Amino acid sequence: MIDDKTLMEEAQKARERSYSPYSRFRVGAALLTKSGKVYTGSNIENASYPAGVCAERVAIFKAVSEGERAFEALALVGGKEGETADFCAPCGICRQVISEFCPKNFKILLGNPEKFEAHTLRELLPLAFGPNDL
Ligand code: THU
Repeated sequence: MIDDKTLMEEAQKARERSYSPYSRFRVGAALLTKSGKVYTGSNIENASYPAGVCAERVAIFKAVSEGERAFEALALVGGKEGETADFCAPCGICRQVISEFCPKNFKILLGNPEKFEAHTLRELLPLAFGPNDL
């Protein structure tokens, strides 16, 4: 199983593949499965702005569409183009998507490979509405 710093490095590498000509805000995500596999994602924007998608959702949808359902952790690295990524928190929609597939104690790493902090999904999305509410 890879460690937290390595997962952050994978997110950093994914950030290099960000397609963000409109916001110039580059984000990379790396999702670790329980089986030890890593799925990465970057934000992909569009000339029709709302059609763009966040890095986290790209990583999660890639994994889920490959049949993965059990996840260990997600690393997120984001910041303005040309600057070292400092800290990027997941947007509300991504928190909701994460909560569809991940337990409340799911680990979310935020920052960059040199300086990052670990949070739980419970902290980032308290009182979540989820599959069990339906
Ligand atoms: N972005 C992400 O990829 N993840 C987040 O959680 C925050 C925002 C992207 C979306 C858009 O391409 C750019 O950052 C600026 O909002």
